[in-house]
Amino acid sequence: MRIIAVINQKGGVGKTTITANLGHALQKAGNRVMLIDLDPQGQLTTSLGIFKLPKNGIDSVLLDQASLQTVEIHTRDNNLVLIPAGGRLVEVEHLNDGGVSRATLLDAALQREELDYDYVLLDCPPASGLLSANAIMAADEALIPVSGDYLSLNGVAHLLSTLKKFEALRSKALQQWVVISRFHTRRRLAKEVRTKLLNHFPNKVLMTEIKEAAALAECPAIGRTIFEFRRTSNSAKDFEQLAQDLIERRTH
Ligand SMILES: Nc1ncnc2c1ncn2[C@@H]1O[C@H](COP(=O)(O)OP(=O)(O)OP(=O)(O)O)[C@@H](O)[C@H]1O
Ligand SMILES: [Mg+2]
Repeated sequence: MRIIAVINQKGGVGKTTITANLGHALQKAGNRVMLIDLDPQGQLTTSLGIFKLPKNGIDSVLLDQASLQTVEIHTRDNNLVLIPAGGRLVEVEHLNDGGVSRATLLDAALQREELDYDYVLLDCPPASGLLSANAIMAADEALIPVSGDYLSLNGVAHLLSTLKKFEALRSKALQQWVVISRFHTRRRLAKEVRTKLLNHFPNKVLMTEIKEAAALAECPAIGRTIFEFRRTSNSAKDFEQLAQDLIERRTH
Protein backbone atom coordinates (compact mmCIF):
# COMPACT_ATOMS: atom_id res chain seq x y z
CA MET A 1 0.00 0.00 0.00
CA ARG A 2 1.46 3.36 -1.05
CA ILE A 3 0.23 6.29 1.03
CA ILE A 4 0.77 9.52 -0.87
CA ALA A 5 0.18 13.05 0.46
CA VAL A 6 -0.79 15.49 -2.29
CA ILE A 7 0.63 18.53 -0.61
CA ASN A 8 1.55 22.17 -1.13
CA GLN A 9 0.72 24.96 1.29
CA LYS A 10 0.20 27.26 -1.69
CA GLY A 11 -3.47 27.47 -2.67
CA GLY A 12 -4.92 26.73 -6.08
CA VAL A 13 -1.99 24.78 -7.49
CA GLY A 14 -4.14 21.78 -8.41
CA LYS A 15 -3.94 19.47 -5.35
CA THR A 16 -7.62 18.57 -5.34
CA THR A 17 -7.89 18.26 -9.13
CA ILE A 18 -4.91 15.92 -9.09
CA THR A 19 -6.15 13.83 -6.16
CA ALA A 20 -9.56 13.23 -7.77
CA ASN A 21 -8.41 12.56 -11.33
CA LEU A 22 -5.19 10.72 -10.51
CA GLY A 23 -7.17 8.62 -8.06
CA HIS A 24 -9.67 7.67 -10.73
CA ALA A 25 -6.85 6.99 -13.23
CA LEU A 26 -5.13 4.67 -10.74
CA GLN A 27 -8.41 2.83 -10.15
CA LYS A 28 -8.99 2.51 -13.90
CA ALA A 29 -5.49 1.01 -14.17
CA GLY A 30 -6.68 -1.83 -11.94
CA ASN A 31 -5.82 -0.60 -8.46
CA ARG A 32 -7.80 -0.37 -5.25
CA VAL A 33 -7.74 3.31 -4.29
CA MET A 34 -8.77 5.24 -1.19
CA LEU A 35 -8.98 9.05 -1.34
CA ILE A 36 -9.01 11.03 1.89
CA ASP A 37 -10.26 14.64 1.99
CA LEU A 38 -8.09 16.39 4.59
CA ASP A 39 -9.26 19.89 3.65
CA PRO A 40 -12.06 21.36 5.82
CA GLN A 41 -13.35 23.06 2.65
CA GLY A 42 -14.31 19.56 1.46
CA GLN A 43 -13.55 20.24 -2.19
CA LEU A 44 -12.38 16.70 -2.93
CA THR A 45 -15.68 15.45 -1.55
CA THR A 46 -17.71 17.74 -3.82
CA SER A 47 -15.41 17.08 -6.79
CA LEU A 48 -16.44 13.43 -6.56
CA GLY A 49 -20.13 14.32 -6.65
CA ILE A 50 -21.00 14.44 -2.94
CA PHE A 51 -22.46 17.94 -2.84
CA LYS A 52 -23.80 17.87 0.70
CA LEU A 53 -20.88 17.34 3.07
CA PRO A 54 -21.59 14.25 5.18
CA LYS A 55 -21.88 14.89 8.91
CA ASN A 56 -19.11 12.46 9.71
CA GLY A 57 -15.93 11.86 7.81
CA ILE A 58 -12.21 11.86 8.46
CA ASP A 59 -12.96 14.34 11.29
CA SER A 60 -14.62 11.56 13.32
CA VAL A 61 -11.70 9.25 12.57
CA LEU A 62 -9.14 11.79 13.80
CA LEU A 63 -11.11 13.27 16.72
CA ASP A 64 -13.13 10.27 17.99
CA GLN A 65 -11.14 7.26 16.69
CA ALA A 66 -14.09 6.21 14.50
CA SER A 67 -13.22 3.46 12.06
CA LEU A 68 -12.59 4.44 8.44
CA GLN A 69 -15.14 1.87 7.35
CA THR A 70 -17.96 3.67 9.17
CA VAL A 71 -17.44 6.86 7.13
CA GLU A 72 -16.27 5.55 3.75
CA ILE A 73 -18.27 6.27 0.61
CA HIS A 74 -18.08 4.04 -2.44
CA THR A 75 -18.29 6.86 -4.95
CA ARG A 76 -17.97 4.76 -8.10
CA ASP A 77 -17.33 1.17 -7.12
CA ASN A 78 -15.60 -0.71 -4.35
CA ASN A 79 -12.22 0.17 -5.79
CA LEU A 80 -12.56 3.96 -5.54
CA VAL A 81 -13.41 4.78 -1.96
CA LEU A 82 -13.70 8.31 -0.55
CA ILE A 83 -13.28 9.33 3.05
CA PRO A 84 -15.07 12.70 3.08
CA ALA A 85 -14.01 15.74 5.09
CA GLY A 86 -16.81 15.95 7.68
CA GLY A 87 -18.07 19.08 9.44
CA ARG A 88 -15.59 19.19 12.35
CA LEU A 89 -12.35 18.74 10.45
CA VAL A 90 -11.15 22.28 11.15
CA GLU A 91 -11.10 21.39 14.87
CA VAL A 92 -8.02 19.26 14.22
CA GLU A 93 -6.09 22.43 13.37
CA HIS A 94 -6.94 23.81 16.83
CA LEU A 95 -6.02 20.83 19.02
CA ASN A 96 -3.95 22.16 21.93
CA ASP A 97 -3.15 19.06 23.92
CA GLY A 98 -1.18 16.02 22.92
CA GLY A 99 2.20 17.31 21.71
CA VAL A 100 3.59 15.38 18.78
CA SER A 101 0.75 12.82 18.98
CA ARG A 102 -1.58 15.48 17.53
CA ALA A 103 0.34 15.04 14.29
CA THR A 104 0.11 11.24 14.23
CA LEU A 105 -3.67 10.83 14.50
CA LEU A 106 -4.01 9.86 10.84
CA ASP A 107 -1.01 7.56 10.92
CA ALA A 108 -2.52 5.78 13.94
CA ALA A 109 -5.90 5.50 12.20
CA LEU A 110 -4.37 3.96 9.07
CA GLN A 111 -2.25 1.60 11.17
CA ARG A 112 -5.04 0.30 13.37
CA GLU A 113 -7.11 -0.99 10.45
CA GLU A 114 -6.30 -3.76 8.07
CA LEU A 115 -6.66 -1.78 4.88
CA ASP A 116 -6.55 -3.52 1.55
CA TYR A 117 -5.69 -0.76 -0.89
CA ASP A 118 -2.93 -0.26 -3.42
CA TYR A 119 -2.99 3.53 -3.12
CA VAL A 120 -4.20 5.96 -0.46
CA LEU A 121 -4.12 9.59 -1.65
CA LEU A 122 -4.38 12.42 0.90
CA ASP A 123 -5.73 15.75 -0.38
CA CYS A 124 -4.13 18.35 1.90
CA PRO A 125 -5.41 21.86 2.70
CA PRO A 126 -3.49 24.96 1.56
CA ALA A 127 -1.82 25.45 4.93
CA SER A 128 1.08 24.02 6.87
CA GLY A 129 -0.86 23.33 10.09
CA LEU A 130 -1.77 20.14 11.92
CA LEU A 131 -3.82 18.59 9.09
CA SER A 132 -0.87 18.77 6.73
CA ALA A 133 1.39 17.56 9.53
CA ASN A 134 -0.87 14.51 9.94
CA ALA A 135 -0.61 13.83 6.22
CA ILE A 136 3.19 14.06 6.26
CA MET A 137 3.47 11.77 9.28
CA ALA A 138 1.14 9.16 7.74
CA ALA A 139 2.51 9.18 4.19
CA ASP A 140 5.24 7.18 2.51
CA GLU A 141 5.47 9.66 -0.33
CA ALA A 142 4.69 13.33 -1.00
CA LEU A 143 3.34 14.41 -4.38
CA ILE A 144 3.92 18.14 -4.76
CA PRO A 145 1.95 19.92 -7.48
CA VAL A 146 3.70 23.04 -8.74
CA SER A 147 1.99 25.38 -11.16
CA GLY A 148 3.97 27.25 -13.77
CA ASP A 149 4.60 30.60 -12.10
CA TYR A 150 7.51 32.05 -10.16
CA LEU A 151 5.70 32.40 -6.87
CA SER A 152 5.06 28.69 -6.78
CA LEU A 153 8.80 28.07 -7.08
CA ASN A 154 9.31 30.06 -3.85
CA GLY A 155 6.55 28.03 -2.28
CA VAL A 156 8.29 24.75 -3.07
CA ALA A 157 11.45 25.80 -1.24
CA HIS A 158 9.32 26.58 1.82
CA LEU A 159 7.46 23.29 1.55
CA LEU A 160 10.66 21.28 1.25
CA SER A 161 12.01 22.86 4.43
CA THR A 162 8.76 21.94 6.22
CA LEU A 163 9.04 18.37 4.95
CA LYS A 164 12.64 18.25 6.19
CA LYS A 165 11.58 19.27 9.69
CA PHE A 166 9.09 16.42 9.83
CA GLU A 167 11.55 13.97 8.38
CA ALA A 168 13.41 14.13 11.69
CA LEU A 169 10.26 12.88 13.49
CA ARG A 170 9.53 10.12 10.99
CA SER A 171 10.97 6.64 11.20
CA LYS A 172 11.59 6.47 7.45
CA ALA A 173 12.42 8.92 4.68
CA LEU A 174 9.60 10.54 2.73
CA GLN A 175 9.94 9.94 -1.00
CA GLN A 176 9.16 13.18 -2.81
CA TRP A 177 7.72 13.71 -6.27
CA VAL A 178 7.01 16.97 -8.07
CA VAL A 179 4.20 17.17 -10.61
CA ILE A 180 4.00 20.17 -12.91
CA SER A 181 0.38 21.25 -12.92
CA ARG A 182 -1.79 23.86 -14.63
CA PHE A 183 0.88 23.96 -17.34
CA HIS A 184 0.49 26.44 -20.21
CA THR A 185 2.40 24.83 -23.06
CA ARG A 186 2.75 28.06 -25.01
CA ARG A 187 3.85 30.35 -22.19
CA ARG A 188 7.55 31.20 -22.05
CA LEU A 189 7.37 31.67 -18.27
CA ALA A 190 5.84 28.25 -17.76
CA LYS A 191 8.66 26.66 -19.75
CA GLU A 192 11.25 28.56 -17.68
CA VAL A 193 9.70 27.38 -14.44
CA ARG A 194 9.70 23.85 -15.79
CA THR A 195 13.41 24.06 -16.67
CA LYS A 196 14.19 25.39 -13.19
CA LEU A 197 12.24 22.58 -11.53
CA LEU A 198 14.04 19.94 -13.60
CA ASN A 199 17.40 21.44 -12.58
CA HIS A 200 16.50 21.78 -8.91
CA PHE A 201 14.84 18.40 -8.49
CA PRO A 202 16.67 15.78 -10.54
CA ASN A 203 14.85 12.43 -10.50
CA LYS A 204 11.90 13.92 -8.66
CA VAL A 205 9.83 15.58 -11.39
CA LEU A 206 7.31 13.12 -12.84
CA MET A 207 7.42 12.84 -16.64
CA THR A 208 3.91 14.07 -17.39
CA GLU A 209 2.74 17.67 -16.98
CA ILE A 210 -0.92 18.33 -16.29
CA LYS A 211 -1.85 21.03 -18.75
CA GLU A 212 -4.24 23.89 -18.03
CA ALA A 213 -7.52 22.95 -19.68
CA ALA A 214 -11.06 24.30 -19.44
CA ALA A 215 -12.52 20.80 -19.18
CA LEU A 216 -10.62 20.14 -15.95
CA ALA A 217 -11.93 23.36 -14.42
CA GLU A 218 -15.49 22.36 -15.32
CA CYS A 219 -15.36 18.93 -13.65
CA PRO A 220 -15.84 19.89 -9.96
CA ALA A 221 -19.12 21.74 -10.57
CA ILE A 222 -20.71 18.59 -11.96
CA GLY A 223 -19.04 16.22 -9.52
CA ARG A 224 -17.34 14.15 -12.20
CA THR A 225 -13.79 13.25 -12.99
CA ILE A 226 -12.31 13.94 -16.41
CA PHE A 227 -12.86 10.26 -17.31
CA GLU A 228 -16.59 10.72 -16.87
CA PHE A 229 -16.82 14.21 -18.39
CA ARG A 230 -14.38 14.09 -21.35
CA ARG A 231 -13.07 10.56 -21.66
CA THR A 232 -11.13 11.15 -24.88
CA SER A 233 -9.69 14.58 -23.99
CA ASN A 234 -6.00 15.43 -23.72
CA SER A 235 -6.56 16.01 -20.01
CA ALA A 236 -7.79 12.43 -19.57
CA LYS A 237 -4.61 11.28 -21.34
CA ASP A 238 -2.48 13.49 -19.07
CA PHE A 239 -3.93 11.77 -16.02
CA GLU A 240 -3.60 8.28 -17.48
CA GLN A 241 0.07 9.00 -18.13
CA LEU A 242 0.60 10.58 -14.73
CA ALA A 243 -0.82 7.45 -13.11
CA GLN A 244 1.66 5.34 -15.10
CA ASP A 245 4.50 7.69 -14.04
CA LEU A 246 3.62 7.13 -10.42
CA ILE A 247 3.14 3.39 -10.82
CA GLU A 248 6.48 3.00 -12.62
CA ARG A 249 8.20 5.85 -10.74
CA ARG A 250 9.02 7.52 -14.07
CA THR A 251 10.77 10.88 -13.71
CA HIS A 252 12.80 13.32 -15.82
N1 LIG B 1 -5.00 21.71 -15.07
C1 LIG B 1 -6.00 22.56 -14.82
N2 LIG B 1 -6.63 23.20 -15.83
C2 LIG B 1 -7.63 24.06 -15.58
N3 LIG B 1 -8.08 24.37 -14.36
C3 LIG B 1 -7.49 23.77 -13.31
C4 LIG B 1 -6.44 22.83 -13.48
N4 LIG B 1 -6.06 22.40 -12.24
C5 LIG B 1 -6.85 23.03 -11.37
N5 LIG B 1 -7.72 23.85 -11.99
C6 LIG B 1 -8.73 24.73 -11.39
O1 LIG B 1 -8.04 25.65 -10.55
C7 LIG B 1 -8.69 25.82 -9.31
C8 LIG B 1 -7.78 25.34 -8.19
O2 LIG B 1 -7.51 23.97 -8.38
P1 LIG B 1 -7.56 22.95 -7.18
O3 LIG B 1 -8.76 23.18 -6.35
O4 LIG B 1 -7.32 21.61 -7.72
O5 LIG B 1 -6.27 23.44 -6.39
P2 LIG B 1 -5.88 23.18 -4.88
O6 LIG B 1 -4.40 23.22 -4.80
O7 LIG B 1 -6.55 21.96 -4.37
O8 LIG B 1 -6.54 24.44 -4.17
P3 LIG B 1 -6.68 24.69 -2.58
O9 LIG B 1 -5.29 25.03 -2.15
O10 LIG B 1 -7.63 25.81 -2.45
O11 LIG B 1 -7.17 23.41 -1.98
C9 LIG B 1 -9.98 25.03 -9.41
O12 LIG B 1 -10.99 25.90 -9.85
C10 LIG B 1 -9.68 23.98 -10.47
O13 LIG B 1 -10.84 23.58 -11.17
MG1 LIG C 1 -7.78 21.68 -2.68
